[in-house]
Amino acid sequence: MMIELSADLYLQHVSEKTQRFQAFCNELNLSGILISSGQQQIQFMDDMAYPFRANVYFKEWLPLVKRYNSFLFIPATGKPHLYLDVSEDIWHTERQKLPVNWQSAFTVSEFEGLPDIKDVLKQAAYLGEHNEFELTKEQCNPLSLRHKIDYQRRFKTAYEHECIRHANHAAAAAHLAAKDAFYEKASELEIKLAYLAASGQSDDDMPYSIIAGLNEHAAILHHFILDSSPPDEHRSFLIDAGVEVNGYASDITRSWAFDGSSEYAELIDCLDARQQELVASIRAGGSAIELHELSHLKMAEVLEQFSIINCSAESCVVSGMSATFYPHGIGHGLGVNVHELGGYLGNPDGAEIPPPAAYPRLRNTSQFAAGAVHTVEPGVYFIPSLLARLKSSDLANSVNWPRVETFLPFGGVRIEDNVLIGEDGLENITRAAFQKYAL
Ligand code: GLY
Ligand code: MN
Ligand code: MN
Repeated sequence: MMIELSADLYLQHVSEKTQRFQAFCNELNLSGILISSGQQQIQFMDDMAYPFRANVYFKEWLPLVKRYNSFLFIPATGKPHLYLDVSEDIWHTERQKLPVNWQSAFTVSEFEGLPDIKDVLKQAAYLGEHNEFELTKEQCNPLSLRHKIDYQRRFKTAYEHECIRHANHAAAAAHLAAKDAFYEKASELEIKLAYLAASGQSDDDMPYSIIAGLNEHAAILHHFILDSSPPDEHRSFLIDAGVEVNGYASDITRSWAFDGSSEYAELIDCLDARQQELVASIRAGGSAIELHELSHLKMAEVLEQFSIINCSAESCVVSGMSATFYPHGIGHGLGVNVHELGGYLGNPDGAEIPPPAAYPRLRNTSQFAAGAVHTVEPGVYFIPSLLARLKSSDLANSVNWPRVETFLPFGGVRIEDNVLIGEDGLENITRAAFQKYAL
């Protein structure tokens, strides 16, 4: 959804991005940077388009996430220029417009077909999927430029923070509606519809498909294919869902127990406390790898506390067994990407920080920057295929299998917040959003 924030905030955002991108032009000897919003794509052997997803490089500047065939040109000096397609189109809804008070950030030209700008592009770089202006291969999406852009993305502007706060606020209301639907014994699909209605967005507007797992489905990390019938019994519910505001996402997970006095409810409370300890440990300049390692220890402590393992939390981590119960990363940068690009970059020139051998798929390996927004999303799951592998391994004796059987019907628990890392402290944007609804 588009929310008209204060014009000052937006103009300051564009001014800051202009300075950064013009510095990149200078460093890379570019006459400018052309960013395409993207083009509609037709499905294979069909005449229907896929839902349009705007180019993230475009969304970083403009909230026009539904406006395909539009272009932003950032010249090496001077004001950014916005080219808007105004071709006649009787088939589709009127095109999205920038709020009037935001337009002074750009000079604006309207065109039909494609803008006549090829001459301007001779020494420019292009960011987009379709190379509409038939530029050379070297001009299209150069890695040296993408590294710089992906790296700077972590230093978010006040406007970006505010968009993510709004995305959390709308998502918190929708999460509460979904929780109510769970306690009313709705199906996964009905829960999704309750979420969408309360969030004020359609399925196509969501930053990612809703993950709404009941019972054993809470163990499916990305459970996108939802049951339309309710299960015989409601035991547990894991929902991972966000909202997109002006192109910026929230990414929130909550887990709920149908029986508030069950051990599964205690497991949620215990994991929630550990999640908040992890959040509290984050500092600007701190290491994302260390946070991930600490999260394994804390999840192993949960397993130990609930007698799910027979060994110490420390040896559970050292042996690698904790990854059976917690097989994903602690989180990722959040913004125009749900999983922000560039988390592995140690500097803007493309130096990569490899993930540790034990956690090869970790998305963020760099230091936390002041101004960054990061998710913190530890979990404990009972995933049959991973448990079967563990059971046939040398580590099988370290597991209390009857306790595993107790928790299997509940699937798992994940708690995910979006945290703004400040120079001198943290803002848990998600908890603040829920607090506004008195939770
Ligand atoms: N919603 C996907 C994730 O949490 O990363
Ligand atoms: Mn998530
Ligand atoms: Mn996430």
